[in-house]
Amino acid sequence: MTQAVRFHDQHVDEASASFLDDVMAGLSARPKALSPKYFYDQRGSQLFEAICRQPEYYLTRTEEGILAAAAEEIAAIVGPESLLVELGSGASRKVRLLLEAMRPSRYLGVDISRDFLLQSTRLLAADYPWLEVHAAWADFSQRLCLPAGVEGRRVVAFFPGSSIGNFEPQEAEVFLSRLRRAMPPGSGVLIGVDLVKDRGVLEAAYDDAAGVTAAFNLNLLERMQRELGAEVEVGNFRHLAFFNEAASRIEMHLVSQCAQVIGIDSRRFAFSRGETLHTENSCKYRLEGFQALAERAGYRPAAVWTDTDRLFSVHYLSTDALSTDAD
Ligand code: AVI
Repeated sequence: MTQAVRFHDQHVDEASASFLDDVMAGLSARPKALSPKYFYDQRGSQLFEAICRQPEYYLTRTEEGILAAAAEEIAAIVGPESLLVELGSGASRKVRLLLEAMRPSRYLGVDISRDFLLQSTRLLAADYPWLEVHAAWADFSQRLCLPAGVEGRRVVAFFPGSSIGNFEPQEAEVFLSRLRRAMPPGSGVLIGVDLVKDRGVLEAAYDDAAGVTAAFNLNLLERMQRELGAEVEVGNFRHLAFFNEAASRIEMHLVSQCAQVIGIDSRRFAFSRGETLHTENSCKYRLEGFQALAERAGYRPAAVWTDTDRLFSVHYLSTDALSTDAD
C-alpha cells in the first residue's frame, strides 16, 4: 500500500514580502544584483527542468551517469537504514538512482517550491511503497534543521546538481559547516560538484541554442511584473553568461540594451545602456579544491566519483571528521 507523504511546513516566506525587499535592495546596489533563489517560481522551476534536458547542459546527464554507476559503492559506504535528506529536491529524479541500492528507511525532500515538492514526493511515495516519505517546505539556505519527528537518525544529506556552486566558496564553506552541525554523528553529505573545464563547453551550457537558459534568466523580470507589478520592458534586456576565470565561475547577467527605468511602486531604478543586473554565479571547482573546502568545513572527504571525461564529480563527505577547529 502506498504511504501518504508526511508534510512539514517550515514557513517559507513565500514570495512577495522578501522578494519585494530583496528586489528593492538589489536594484539599489552597485553593481545591481539579485539572489538566484528567485529564479524558482513555478515557471522558473519548469524552465530549469527544461534546461536540464538541453544538449549543452551536460551537468544533469553526467551526474546521473555517475550516480547510476556508483550506486552500489555509495550504498556500501553509507550503509542501509539512514534518513536520506534531499536538499532542493525539485523533481526528486536523481534520488531514484540511489534508492534501491541504498535502502534508506526514510526520505525527506526539502524544497522552496511548494507545489513542485508535493507533486514529486507523492510520486516517489507511490513508486517506493517501502519508503517513509516526508516533504519539508523550507528555504534551506536560510534554515537548516530537521522537522520534529524526523530527527535523530544517521543522516545522508543528498545535495545534487552542483547547487553548492551557486554559493560563493566562502558561503559554501559556512553552509556545509552549518549542515554538518545539524546532523548526528555518523552522518555524511553526498554532493554533486561541477568541475572546471574548457570555457567553450562551460559557456554553451549556460547559453543553450534553444534559448531556454535565456528564458530562465529573463523570467526573473517577468516574475517582478507578475508578483510586484513592476513596470519593466523585458524585451529591452538580454541574457548574458560568461566564464569568469579568475573567480572560477560562470556569471549570469541581464544586460540593459538601452537607457531605461524599472518602476516598482513609487520607486524608479535607472539602468544605463550596457549596465547589468547580476543574477547568478555558478562556481566550478577542481577536485582537490573542493575537498580542501570540505575539510575546512570540518568533513572528511571519504570518496569521490567522476565521469571518464572529468566533467562532473560526486563527493561523499563524512562528518566523522579529521578533528579540526572548524567548530
Ligand atoms: C541549480 N544550479 C546548480 C544551476 C547551475 O548550473 O548553476 C542553475 C542554472 N542556471 C543556469 N542554468 C542552470
